[in-house]
Amino acid sequence: MRCCVTAAPPYICLQVSATQNPLQQSVDKANTINERHQRFIVFFSWSGRTALHCLIQRDTHPAPIINCRMINSGGKHIRNASPAPDHRSEARLRIDPKVLVFVETTYSGLGRDIAELLVYNRIKYKIEVAGKSLPVLTNLDKGRYGVIVFENLDKYLNMDKWNRELLDKYCREYSVGIVGFVSPSEETLVGAQLRDFPLFVNTNLRLRDASLNPLSSVLRLTRAGETAWGALPGDDWAVFQHNHSTYEPVEWAQRNTQEYPADSVGQVQLPLTTVLQDRGQLDGIQRVLFGSSLRFWLHRLVFLDALSYLSHGQLSLNLERMILVDIDDIFVGEKGTTLRPDDARALIATQKKIAATVPKRSRVQLFSHMWKHQQPHLYDTLTLLMTEMHLNYAFAVDHNIPTDSGYSISPHHSGVYPAHELLYMAWKKVWNVKVTSTEEYPHLRPARLRRGFIHRNIMVLPRQTCGLFTHTMYIDRYPGGRDKLDESIQGGELFQTIVYNPINIFMTHMSNYGSDRLALYTFQSVIKFLQCWTNLKLASAPPVQLAEMYFRLHPEEVDPVWGNPCDDVRHKKIWSKTKNCDSLPKFLVIGPQKTGTTALYTFLSMHGSIASNIASPETFEEVQFFNGNNYYRGLDWYMDFFPSESLPNTSSPMPTQLGSPRFMFEKSATYFDGEAVPKRSHALLPHAKIVTILISPAKRAYSWYQHQRSHGDVIANNYSFYQVITASDSAPRALKDLRNRCLNPGKYAQHLEHWLAYYPAQQLHIIDGEQLRLNPIDVMNELQRFLKIQPLLDYSNHLRYDVKKGFYCQAVSEKRNKCLGKSKGRQYPAMDERSAKLLQRYYLNHNTALVKLLKKLGSRPIPQWLKDDLSTGT
Ligand code: A3P
Repeated sequence: MRCCVTAAPPYICLQVSATQNPLQQSVDKANTINERHQRFIVFFSWSGRTALHCLIQRDTHPAPIINCRMINSGGKHIRNASPAPDHRSEARLRIDPKVLVFVETTYSGLGRDIAELLVYNRIKYKIEVAGKSLPVLTNLDKGRYGVIVFENLDKYLNMDKWNRELLDKYCREYSVGIVGFVSPSEETLVGAQLRDFPLFVNTNLRLRDASLNPLSSVLRLTRAGETAWGALPGDDWAVFQHNHSTYEPVEWAQRNTQEYPADSVGQVQLPLTTVLQDRGQLDGIQRVLFGSSLRFWLHRLVFLDALSYLSHGQLSLNLERMILVDIDDIFVGEKGTTLRPDDARALIATQKKIAATVPKRSRVQLFSHMWKHQQPHLYDTLTLLMTEMHLNYAFAVDHNIPTDSGYSISPHHSGVYPAHELLYMAWKKVWNVKVTSTEEYPHLRPARLRRGFIHRNIMVLPRQTCGLFTHTMYIDRYPGGRDKLDESIQGGELFQTIVYNPINIFMTHMSNYGSDRLALYTFQSVIKFLQCWTNLKLASAPPVQLAEMYFRLHPEEVDPVWGNPCDDVRHKKIWSKTKNCDSLPKFLVIGPQKTGTTALYTFLSMHGSIASNIASPETFEEVQFFNGNNYYRGLDWYMDFFPSESLPNTSSPMPTQLGSPRFMFEKSATYFDGEAVPKRSHALLPHAKIVTILISPAKRAYSWYQHQRSHGDVIANNYSFYQVITASDSAPRALKDLRNRCLNPGKYAQHLEHWLAYYPAQQLHIIDGEQLRLNPIDVMNELQRFLKIQPLLDYSNHLRYDVKKGFYCQAVSEKRNKCLGKSKGRQYPAMDERSAKLLQRYYLNHNTALVKLLKKLGSRPIPQWLKDDLSTGT
């Protein structure tokens, strides 16, 4: 297709006359366009917290059936109509906004639900298995956790005395609250007292009709006033009985009289407390206790409120929610599914109604799509792709369609993620696109992990799923039936999506606005349900504004993380056939610099079955992708270094079979200590083997200093080694930089731990750099075994000690050796004693930690240089 069309945010419609209505204009335009077989997209957004009523009074169209007394009665029933309370308090806040979750086991269901909910809401947490010793709770004078959660309240109540006192003391001292869930058990308890508390529980109950206490100060995001009618999920509810003023109910429910018919005869049902607040009057610790898991949707909201309340607002969620609904395929589609004028009028009327009280002004928004719905990843040249895009652009200009929305959507997410660089380039050049959105980053599922990123100056927003697809036209034929859609709206997936995501972009299709107008039904209903049960402030804005807001809220998401497109079938479908995942390395030599990485690289390249990347014009044999700015050039750029055709390896003494797959590797010695590298490389190469070389960190620092001197570095030439390594933080920046490059990579244990946070120990191979220097034949044989390379190359026939060079070199003939260049194995004076002593002290703790780590990793002998460094350092 071509281009773009539009409709307006709802409030726009108030500003235009009926004949000039932008959506109507779009309809007219689209009809013309439709004749030419082109496609349109309409974008609209709405906002507001107005009462909603059914607008489309036609029997053939289902009407929203959200019963909300508060909304329907104009708010008369709201006892707590004041704005959402602010949970910030005067408490001495010396806590990190992080949750400590004690789970029963690492696999327990509720524990997983809690973790997922926290991830969805981007709340930091740490999981601990209850019953083991307590984790460290403080860091200097700061508490590490703002709230403690027990998946099973019993584990808290029955903690051993020592740990319980420690934990309670921490909670009192740092004003940290506790959330506990009564865990279901086979034994049914009746009036059983909770250990040490004047509090009693009945368990294993079936309940119905939950409602919230409007006076509860715990509620903030959640709004009291309405009842969740019907049976509550599960038959293992616990309810609390209490008669002390420290306790206040947060949520009530009724016994399910259908399940307990005898109870109902002539009796008035008293509400049973299902969520309870302990104000801490008895022991100075505030708590919120749940009588059931998070299976009940309302508990998820109350749980988030409990975190907010108990952390004194440190873990409060922002209450603003932006919603934007795009409409795709508005004037094309199968016969009988196209939008008719009365459908368009219903859409406009709905927009107006929803936006009636939103005092915002906006303008018609149009945005571009692809000509004939073409997928950009199918284009291998920029010129072709731009030519197609220009057709759209010219069309828009011809039809007075604005071209400055800055927003574009790619058909089937093609080219957005995995990123097809040509699309980003063409978008910028033709449309000056600033924003797009996709469901595919990092993956479609799980939805809670969808994130945004910025690439080549284009902001990519996560797009959310609303459950409506091109084929969902009639409510009775909704997959799973109408109940399924209503469940998603009334506390289910769609409702929760909006609760957890500050910025929501949904895609709908033209067919959702004709027939049963399911989009109108769905969004009216969910907005009504949100207004009924939450204090969220709903609004909308054009995409560029939304994107700016998004990255202000989540600056940590700006940098993309490139994954392997072949690890996701959906990604593979929208990835160019000319690219393939064989063009990625199987192992990485990560450095650090000056440990013998060039020697290792050269020896590996001698192997007929091993191939490195092609040389980079800027950084020679090193690609340096995962650190620094090259990462922003994208995956295509990286993969171009690994051509999949098997070229003969001219430096190999082994015969290379043309066409046989080669073991690709990459060596970039700066990867070892690059902050972002392990995360990025793991995202792309989770199965890669990681090879590192370690020598004495002091020796490494000195070798680097000498390297810089011989490269004419002014600082290295003007300052002695001792001056460099003792430079203070107030020294000139260039001197500090050199000091850091000398010293930091040598903190081996710290960097290795960072790698081990992403890669399992079995994928990591540590080479003793001294052994590489003195006995490379054994080192290479061991490495081949680790890499499972076939056939094995017997390096004893190909490496030979070169007396003149003082190192092993490649034996190219009987008499001739090929050694590394002058810059490797340099001649320079020995390190001065003062520096040597200082560095031994400096690295003492790091080296001790390295010994510990190597022992933990097992089967790795402690290198002699490490023993020496430690023995002379003490
Ligand atoms: P020096 O030049 O300080 O002696 P890198 O390639 O990672 O920059 O490491 C360079 C270091 O590799 C050299 O440091 C040298 O000691 C060491 N090395 C190990 N084996 C070597 C070999 N066979 N030939 C040359 N240098 C080797």
